[in-house]
Amino acid sequence: MARTRGGEAENPARDELLAVIAHELRSPVSSIVMSIESLRGVHVEGGIREAFDVIRRCADRILRLTEDLAEMADLQNGRFILRLETEDFAEIVAQSAAAASVLARERNIDVRVAIDDMPPVACDRDRISQVLANLLVNAFNVTEKGGTITVHAAVGKGEVVVEIIDNGPGIADADLPYVFDRYWRAKDVAYKGAGLGLAIAKAIIDAHHGRIWAESMPGAGSRFMVALPL
Ligand SMILES: Nc1ncnc2c1ncn2[C@@H]1O[C@H](COP(=O)(O)OP(=O)(O)OP(=O)(O)O)[C@@H](O)[C@H]1O
Ligand SMILES: [Mg+2]
Repeated sequence: MARTRGGEAENPARDELLAVIAHELRSPVSSIVMSIESLRGVHVEGGIREAFDVIRRCADRILRLTEDLAEMADLQNGRFILRLETEDFAEIVAQSAAAASVLARERNIDVRVAIDDMPPVACDRDRISQVLANLLVNAFNVTEKGGTITVHAAVGKGEVVVEIIDNGPGIADADLPYVFDRYWRAKDVAYKGAGLGLAIAKAIIDAHHGRIWAESMPGAGSRFMVALPL
């Protein structure tokens, strides 16, 4: 049985089953999340409120996991459509960074953004935004209060390049080759997750014929880079 570099066994039957389950669960789980949301304004006793909050957090997590599993399956099977349009890439990066800045203010994290002028890029706006969001969420998850996240976009040779730099714990050199593998997570990772965000990001960037990679700065932080062809 073939194994990926992260040691995960290739198993098409399991992947297909997971894909079917994830797609089937998406709609009922999102109905649960919407129903819970609609109860937000209703006055209830403290104990019931706490129970509601637990249900809401858990349902949100199940929905995100379900969506990521379904998306990963679609990307793997080529069952997704890339909607390429000529886009203002600088604006896509700016909007992603602005969304992150809202979260940053709440957590007292400084988001520094530097975006150079750049020509339009043919890309799927929603999916590229999703890639940047996945990288930014990871950066947030590992950055302490008072830390800094840097978003930098520039034009390289025949491509546009975005880098997202955090000053979290970094990634051990030995772990670097595995970070984009499905379900792979570092042994000592301090937050909850499924290990799907970077695999999804890589599949999206591969579909754009771009490049995505990470550089290790153990103890000093991580640098994730995305390049899309011009
Ligand atoms: N900025 C970062 N700094 C340090 N380690 C990171 C960083 N980004 C990712 N990693 C490591 O790579 C692993 C895989 O990341 P990935 O985004 O694929 O999954 P996740 O964040 O654990 O879960 P998910 O994104 O599915 O919610 C992480 O669990 C973590 O060990
Ligand atoms: Mg992640």
